Amino acid sequence: MVRRHLALSAVSVLLASLSLGAFACGSSDAPGQPQAPPPAAPPVAPAPAETAAPAPSAEASGAATTAPAADNPLDRKPDVVYVPTPQPVVDRMLTMAKIKKTDVVYDLGCGDGRIVVTAAKKYGVKAFGYDIDPKRVEEAIANVKKAGVENLVTIERKDIFTLDLSPASVVTLYLLPSLNVKLVPQLEKLKPGSRVITHDFDIEGYKPDTRVAMNAIADDHGGSADHAIYFFTMPLKPVKK
Ligand SMILES: C[S@@+](CC[C@H](N)C(=O)[O-])C[C@H]1O[C@@H](n2cnc3c(N)ncnc32)[C@H](O)[C@@H]1O
Repeated sequence: MVRRHLALSAVSVLLASLSLGAFACGSSDAPGQPQAPPPAAPPVAPAPAETAAPAPSAEASGAATTAPAADNPLDRKPDVVYVPTPQPVVDRMLTMAKIKKTDVVYDLGCGDGRIVVTAAKKYGVKAFGYDIDPKRVEEAIANVKKAGVENLVTIERKDIFTLDLSPASVVTLYLLPSLNVKLVPQLEKLKPGSRVITHDFDIEGYKPDTRVAMNAIADDHGGSADHAIYFFTMPLKPVKK
């Protein structure tokens, strides 16, 4: 409970500091992040934070077509920096989704592709990862190839707020509270019975079926931190006031 409080405090510090000015958070290779130091060292693993970075300048998706940078709406800063979900949390999120062979998994803001790769490897399902950052898309495509799941996994450079989510039956999110809420109109297009699993942040205004807390060691920097996973079944259930 204390650790959770510390974790949430760290997130608050990060988000509060972002309203004062830009700083890099999460992975050191977050796209074009200004390198000013964070105002306080978080006591736990970093949570994703809004970006204040200049837009990535190059199209690097393995699958996407190339457009002149100035005309490409994808050449803007990501809405949240890259922080990977620790693998034990990925495993738990997918266990909670009770994935069947017929499921189609979408990870919105897929980072290095770990969630979609795990879904394909462990459950043999079709999975789609979308990220706006060309570096992440490149990494995810490489990880798909490394895992030998090219037949099941598609990675595309896309803005998640432009996606039609209706083909998905399982959607995973590790974004920010405000971004989860912004996705609600798209999530509402999911078929009844589809599952939405969010890491660390719920969907404000909607009641999760389950919330699980777990501690995990981050595989990128080795720090241990408390994590929360929220599980929703569609249709979303508004919180009663
Ligand atoms: C916190 S990371 C989560 C990565 C991965 N889902 C995981 O759990 O390991 C969030 C990711 O969202 C991506 N992102 C931010 N805004 C986006 C947008 N509008 N469209 C697509 N991807 C976005 C970032 O580039 C980053 O890789």
